Amino acid sequence: MSKYLPSFGNNLQVAVIGASGGIGSAFVDHLCLDNKVSQIYAYSRSLQITPNPTDPKIQKIQTHPIDYTQEIAIATAATQITAPLDLIIITTGLLHNGQMQPEKSLRTLSAESFNAAFQVNTIGPALVAKHFLPLLNQERKTVFAVLSARLSSISDNYLGGWYAYRASKAALNMVLKNAAIETARRNQLAAIVGLHPGTVDTALSKPFQANVPEGKLFTPAYAAACLLQVIDRLTAVDSGNLFAWDGAQIPF
Ligand SMILES: NC(=O)c1ccc[n+]([C@@H]2O[C@H](COP(=O)([O-])OP(=O)(O)OC[C@H]3O[C@@H](n4cnc5c(N)ncnc54)[C@H](OP(=O)(O)O)[C@@H]3O)[C@@H](O)[C@H]2O)c1
Repeated sequence: MSKYLPSFGNNLQVAVIGASGGIGSAFVDHLCLDNKVSQIYAYSRSLQITPNPTDPKIQKIQTHPIDYTQEIAIATAATQITAPLDLIIITTGLLHNGQMQPEKSLRTLSAESFNAAFQVNTIGPALVAKHFLPLLNQERKTVFAVLSARLSSISDNYLGGWYAYRASKAALNMVLKNAAIETARRNQLAAIVGLHPGTVDTALSKPFQANVPEGKLFTPAYAAACLLQVIDRLTAVDSGNLFAWDGAQIPF
């Protein structure tokens, strides 16, 4: 019995790109407990899982490196896939690092922050789409889902700020829309979507959690479980759109 993916076929092959992250690792945790999932390709810059021949959950997980700074590394990562994929989830993302903080005003914009945000939030996922979308199974339902953010929505932007993050995620949405249109010409069973996980207690949101209303800061496990339920309800008709953790479509 599949807890999360009853609408999919059996013997599922899944790739999680960004498996070291707060939400990415929660996806891997849920998926390795799901009876329908046979193989999880867990990609990151750092994650290593020691094979344990006595634990069937761990045996499902293969860890592989991926590096967004070199397209050849993404192409090489794709060569690790040995069977058509049913589900690809990209959970990488960048909001802040040692040099970069979300901008409150135009005065603090910098080319460096924009380059860093676009590298991780837009260009990396676009190159993953280039090399991994051709690996989707064409015989049955498949999903390519990328964690975007509600902040990517131009029509939903009432607060301003966070220029590089918002712009890089809005550009990601355009990449996904384009990829959805192109993919539909040869694969009518694939859904290519952006997902908003809610506000989730991870390293990415940690500095910005002070004003989150009570009950609105999700654990990674809860967010990943909600998103798997959204993924399960998707069909090809939904391709090219952005959905929140509760299944509601977010307008671009
Ligand atoms: N947390 C939230 O409240 C929230 C809200 C809305 C949207 N999101 C989105 O959800 C996604 C997951 O976020 P999270 O909260 O789980 O963040 P997280 O815990 O900080 O995880 C971020 C992931 O991105 C990877 N990453 C960062 N820079 C990278 C690079 N240059 N190359 C390759 N991988 C890189 C990290 O890998 P390393 O471990 O190697 O650094 C890690 O796996 C992001 O796209 C984020 O924008 C999160």
